[in-house]
Amino acid sequence: MRGLLPCWAFIALVAAQGFEADWDAAYTKATAALAKLSQSEKVGLVSGVGWGKGPCSGNTGSARSINYPALCLQDGPLGVRSAASITAFPAGIQAGATWDRALMRERGRALGEETKALGIHVILGPVAGPLGQFAQGGRNWEGFANDPYLSGEATAQTIGGIQEGGAQACVKHYILNEQEKNRETMNSVVDDRTLHELYLWPFAEAVRANVASVMCSYNKIDGKWACENKRVMDDLLKKELGFRGYVLTDWNAQHSTTDSANTGLDMTMPGSDYNGGNVYWGSKLQSAVSSGQVSTSRLDDMVKRILASWYLVKQDSGYPATAIDRRSKNGGPNVQGNHKDVARKVARDGIVLLKNTDGILPLKKPKSIAVLGTDAVPNPKGINSCQDMGCNQGTLTMGWGSGSCTLPYVSSPAEAITTRAKQDSTTVTISATDTSTQAASAAQNADVAIVFITADSGEEYVTVEGHKGDRNNLDAWHNGEALVKAVANVNKNTIVVVHSTGPILMEGFADLANVKAIVWAGLPGQEAGSALADVLYGDVSPSGKMPYSIAKKASDYGTTIQSNTDNFGEGLYIDYRAFDKKSIVLRYEFGFGLSYTTFNYSNLAIAGSPTPGPETGDTIPGGASSLFKTAATVTATITNSGSVVAAEVAQLYLGFPDSAPDTPVRQLRGFEKLNINPGESKSVKFVLRNKDLSYWDATAKKWVVPKGAFAVDVGASSRDLRLNGKISVS
Ligand code: NOJ
Repeated sequence: MRGLLPCWAFIALVAAQGFEADWDAAYTKATAALAKLSQSEKVGLVSGVGWGKGPCSGNTGSARSINYPALCLQDGPLGVRSAASITAFPAGIQAGATWDRALMRERGRALGEETKALGIHVILGPVAGPLGQFAQGGRNWEGFANDPYLSGEATAQTIGGIQEGGAQACVKHYILNEQEKNRETMNSVVDDRTLHELYLWPFAEAVRANVASVMCSYNKIDGKWACENKRVMDDLLKKELGFRGYVLTDWNAQHSTTDSANTGLDMTMPGSDYNGGNVYWGSKLQSAVSSGQVSTSRLDDMVKRILASWYLVKQDSGYPATAIDRRSKNGGPNVQGNHKDVARKVARDGIVLLKNTDGILPLKKPKSIAVLGTDAVPNPKGINSCQDMGCNQGTLTMGWGSGSCTLPYVSSPAEAITTRAKQDSTTVTISATDTSTQAASAAQNADVAIVFITADSGEEYVTVEGHKGDRNNLDAWHNGEALVKAVANVNKNTIVVVHSTGPILMEGFADLANVKAIVWAGLPGQEAGSALADVLYGDVSPSGKMPYSIAKKASDYGTTIQSNTDNFGEGLYIDYRAFDKKSIVLRYEFGFGLSYTTFNYSNLAIAGSPTPGPETGDTIPGGASSLFKTAATVTATITNSGSVVAAEVAQLYLGFPDSAPDTPVRQLRGFEKLNINPGESKSVKFVLRNKDLSYWDATAKKWVVPKGAFAVDVGASSRDLRLNGKISVS
């Protein structure tokens, strides 16, 4: 810990720092290896062996001559699926809520290490799409935020961590796959500017971070399947963004042999449909190459991309043999190491304190606590009793579907609070039902009542309590609102804890005088309870900030799940961009989160005179090289003016000049998390790249820095903008 004297430490920016990679060297090796391969070996490397035919979710052929293994590809973004003794990390959305780049990287590295230790080559994550076009979207929680910048930074750090850990990352789902309903037939139609400024942005940061692979999605874009779409694979990803790794399909997202090959697909997964039918590559690709429908150079390009990525991440020497087998339910050895520590940190630092009246939190040695709701205890039928977490019973630690993993254990809130309460000789009563009358009777004589509510969602192949992936509404499940009201009716110190995959409406209880605190505990993974107790008891001050906005009513979001075609009619205006445009009053805005201390912001200083005009320079991973040059730097001072050590996420939003047509009121373009002692001041520095000051000119098809005055707002949330300045571009 730092001393108590004011410290003007300078926080250096780590801008979307990814995996340090030498693609040229990897390609040199790949080219040499390619020369040794037969045509059938090449085809084997790009084709999945078929569903259920290998130890992993996805498996390819091997090539003995170059010691290339049967590649093992395995879910998923928060923990290794089908493995037994792994860490169930907090979900992506919880990592996003930490706004802590270093922690995001640590989480990624731990996941990469576990993946490698199990001899799995490719982990199917992180998730950069969906981006939260729809608040009800079933899989938003697998990703990091409903904002491209926060999502992009988190994606880059996670990839950096995973690949440093030794595994190849696979960023998914590329692209415009925003809902679960009809995901395998939906057609997404989006304007070029919205595509670039929102949905492509985090993928561009993934490419900049040197991600090894990209998964193309199930849906169509402009009427063409994502996995046979020249515009998205060849033109955008490979040419415009300079992606040098390989594109693989989502499971069964391939629909053709030659079209997919000729538009930029490099690997098909799992190689057949789930019945063993619909095989598009393998021998069919071989025939297509023999007949000239697919060129040999295209096949060579696929193989080179796959081999280069393998070399890039150094999997060519000393990589462990694959140690899991989903067919025989062999979950492999214990690879957890000390990763429960990072899991707990992410779970804890992603907790967002939304309301705290009369300083009820942190808890001050109450005589008695009532812990209420089914979410407070582990699923009584067993923590892993529901296939792919497809139920909402017991503590909600993650959503359902392929993005879930086996829980090695769960620290439940009831257990963690009971353990911690012993230190203060507090009596704990647990009422693990969602029935209002029972909860109220358990709560009425307690000093403090902590009531747990949830909302769950996941992937469309499982329907849980009537929700087929996407949520049907934004209400708390299991009558959560009634439960809170019943408890608040009898207990004047009611604390609400929410575990949820996305926003829920809380107008029914948020303003009740007896609801003294609301704690947004997100999707915390295996360390749910311990992380929560850390915050409730003030062992750590809460420091998470909302990665999406919580509106007062569902219609305020302005978007709803579509049926056949998603026209992206709202354009750039999702989440806070929409609320700010329409000046809608929110319950809790994007970027919001309270602390046990207070912070003062001062000394805004802006340096640099950015050059206006379009992007220039060669294409490097991520886009034109000029995009990544520094345009301006912004500094400010943050002072902890309260009495406890705590972390603050300072956020920088830009308002574009009028010369940039129809641009959101403000857009996140910087954030830094600083741990600050009471009385201490720290300097925060944001480095703005040309990209951050650019809008996408759909006519010129370039990023352009517009002329005029940018509004620079630095503050504690998207609506708490304490310092205001300008950057002039002329
Ligand atoms: C389909 C999901 O969309 C994808 O995220 C996952 O990686 C694959 N299934 C494999 O399980």
